[in-house]
Amino acid sequence: MMICISCGAEYDNQEIIYTCRECGSILEVVCQPQVSRDIFECRKSTMWKYKEFMPVDHSLIVSLEEGGTPFCRCQKLGDDLGVELYVKVEGSNPTGSFKDRGMSVGITKARELGVDTVGCASTGNTSASLAAYAARAGLRCIVLLPSGKVALGKLAQAMFHGAEVISVRGNFDEALEAVTALALEGQLYLLNSVNPFRLEGQKSIGFEIVDDLGWKSPDRIILPVGNAGNISAIWKGITEFHEAGFISDLPRMTGIQAEGAAPIARAVEQGWEDIVPVENPETVATAIRIGAPVSAKKALRAIYESDGMAETVTDEEILDAQKLLARREGIGVEPASAASIAGLRKLVESGQIDKGEQIVCIVTGHLLKDPNTAINACKEPIEVDADISALSRIINQS
Ligand code: F0G
Repeated sequence: MMICISCGAEYDNQEIIYTCRECGSILEVVCQPQVSRDIFECRKSTMWKYKEFMPVDHSLIVSLEEGGTPFCRCQKLGDDLGVELYVKVEGSNPTGSFKDRGMSVGITKARELGVDTVGCASTGNTSASLAAYAARAGLRCIVLLPSGKVALGKLAQAMFHGAEVISVRGNFDEALEAVTALALEGQLYLLNSVNPFRLEGQKSIGFEIVDDLGWKSPDRIILPVGNAGNISAIWKGITEFHEAGFISDLPRMTGIQAEGAAPIARAVEQGWEDIVPVENPETVATAIRIGAPVSAKKALRAIYESDGMAETVTDEEILDAQKLLARREGIGVEPASAASIAGLRKLVESGQIDKGEQIVCIVTGHLLKDPNTAINACKEPIEVDADISALSRIINQS
């Protein structure tokens, strides 16, 4: 069953519906399996380890073995900041971002419903992931991208996996509105995170974190927020495990936004239950260049219920954090992902995060998603002949 998060109206899981017919708000899937956590033992470490919590037809699963991503202790960076820091490396998923978790469930649902065409609007990663999973399932895939604002690696993936890529004159919010209209006309099955089944996959990030910590919740989970699906999904997963009695404590959900695209942070600052959209969102972190996040209400609920918070970071802080994580801990992430680390630094410096807290930062996408930003942040390599004396002069220069 799906329910409306605002008025509680109920809908059958077999219905193709994205928002509530009664009040227009967003929907969520109800999932309360009666199982013991022992059943997870000895299962392969992919997100389907927790399949009882994925309410789709398990005989139709479309998977590339997503999930089971690295959970890296970052001792040096943690010590610098005075916290116990873990980084959940979502760039290690099959197409290089956390979206694969959502698409595995979303495309499985598409097969269950018998649709032949799927689609999305995307700042890049959603389209890359959808293109790959649609290819695996043999479905037609249409993606709408904001013209000129999608990082190169993501564009290459969407095109190479055979999606029909359409470049839309406008930003992500406008592209999402357009693709939603197509979906409501029945021209495609929408796989943006407004589709609540996407979040059923992404909630597995929360499952893995508490499993990795030995069935304990960290003090805090920090992650970048764009369209606001992921923070909502992780909170849903954690609360489901809490309600099932698998864990006894809960984390504070902490969302980080780029200063130029921060409707959620603004709403939290004001104590609002919904956002005021940002008209012309702008940030170097193109993945989260979003002004009207579709899951805003769910994200705000997650932040308020968990006694969490939201913070903004500048583009400079994002790029600094991206470099710091790469150079100090060897973890290469795209700019949007580094917002979590930038936010952590800012919140520690301002005293809003206590020393000694156990913190999980989610880094959402791989460095190679956005090679141009990475290259632009570095000096060009020196070119010389393969000559020993010339080489040793260069090596010993600095
Ligand atoms: N990090 C990365 C790398 C992303 O690609 C996204 C969203 C986010 C964070 C934010 O997650 O939207 O659930 O709050 N990318 C979407 C896309 C919008 O189209 O790929 P969110």
